[in-house]
Amino acid sequence: MPRRIPLSRAAQLVGVKRRVLQKDIQAGKIPTFEGTVELSDLLRLYPDVQIHDNTMLERMEHIMERAVTRKHTTKERTYEPEVLASRLKSLAEELVRARLTAQHYERVLQRVQEWLAREPADLPALRHWLAEAMAADTLDDRSEQILVGESFLRTMAANVRILNTDYEFPVEGTCTVLECGLQAGVPLEYGCSNGTCGLCRALVVEGEVRAVRPHDYHLSEAEKAQGYFLTCCYTPVTDIVIEARVAGGPQDIPVQRITTRVKKLQPLAEDVMLLQLRTPRSRRLRFYAGQYVTLIAGEEAVLDLPIASCPCDDMHLEFHVQLRPDEPFVDYLTTRLRKGDEVVVEGPKGDFVFDDDSTRPIIMLACDTGFAPVKSLTEHAMAVNRGDEIHLYWVINELQGPYLENQCRAWADAFEGVHYRSLSCDEVERRTGVPASSPEARIEGVLKEILAAHGRLEEYDIYVAGNATFVQACKAFFVNLGFPEAQLHSGVLH
Ligand code: FES
Repeated sequence: MPRRIPLSRAAQLVGVKRRVLQKDIQAGKIPTFEGTVELSDLLRLYPDVQIHDNTMLERMEHIMERAVTRKHTTKERTYEPEVLASRLKSLAEELVRARLTAQHYERVLQRVQEWLAREPADLPALRHWLAEAMAADTLDDRSEQILVGESFLRTMAANVRILNTDYEFPVEGTCTVLECGLQAGVPLEYGCSNGTCGLCRALVVEGEVRAVRPHDYHLSEAEKAQGYFLTCCYTPVTDIVIEARVAGGPQDIPVQRITTRVKKLQPLAEDVMLLQLRTPRSRRLRFYAGQYVTLIAGEEAVLDLPIASCPCDDMHLEFHVQLRPDEPFVDYLTTRLRKGDEVVVEGPKGDFVFDDDSTRPIIMLACDTGFAPVKSLTEHAMAVNRGDEIHLYWVINELQGPYLENQCRAWADAFEGVHYRSLSCDEVERRTGVPASSPEARIEGVLKEILAAHGRLEEYDIYVAGNATFVQACKAFFVNLGFPEAQLHSGVLH
């Protein structure tokens, strides 16, 4: 019997990113059926895969540690995550062996029936065949290991697939479908996140869900019987397939107006200030990584700023404010705004977002505080485990220097596909010994140096963020090189 495994779980089992497996599917290396792959195809594509018990156990322990710490530790009784993980693993092994043996016996029985119908008199030959069939191995070791792993992961993390989309994601412990969906980068529709507005209503097509949070939104008995539930209040009990509303792009996310409070104000450098805002728990900001909002503080302090944080944390919004003189918002920020004060956020706006259909490697060019949307995109890529190859260049033109360089270096150290370099326009000018004739020529000098490191440019997607001069100079430069415009994405700081 063919054994189908959801894509993200299959990727986890063979130790590759889901996006890598998606690339294999797009290249026709492995067939897929409704977000799943067949075990035999998976093993054919990854013949050398080793299922590392330790990795699996560590992952289980991590999941259980979080769940156990939260819910089941009491003074009288403490559950050790590693003990529970080992027990679960042995139960998974037992289950898989029992299931495989039962399937094997089913097949043998069917052959016996066919044999008796065909040659009822040839009992000695049947007896001989039967003895061999019963002694035969039910499955090879590698397949068995994969199935044990799959069953093990399924116990701890149910898989959610959204019908008529490519989205699927795991839900660990008793996390809600909405929480885990957002963490996985799925732009699910929602509003209050606490069960009152009904915007996250979805339909279970296959599987079972259970409420883990109280909610006031009224679902009639008939709706419940049909399988309707609220993604912000329910968790899957089994793998589930659901019908849910998801945004197809930034155009599907409505502009929201939310009164937030200042959580943190902190200088990042002499010329840049970090502003962190916290939304109310029941009114969080839905946005795509790379988008910007309008901030309104006081009567007249208004500024459009890109969000520097990841959409997976929709309650804590981060902004990098360049401390320009004569800017009313900056004046208000530095002289009057304090922790706990109100700031109205209006947005999201803009279409500087990832092209989710592309699997090309990425070059990101951030100029000065153009780093903010690039940070949001990079953090999002890491949070959802996109597995992209990202070459991040931070160009310093007006600022004194890159203000979060340690963070960039930490990304490059921690993630295999992330590469980072900062370049100063002044330094490049000094090195070449030719003073630039215009601001555009100054930027062009830097771009030439960056691109010398890359071969066939058309194999990349390029994301450019900075002030209008920088973005225009980049666009002109790449268009002159014949770079495809559809692969060039730009976000202008307003
Ligand atoms: S988001 Fe409002 S009810 Fe779920």
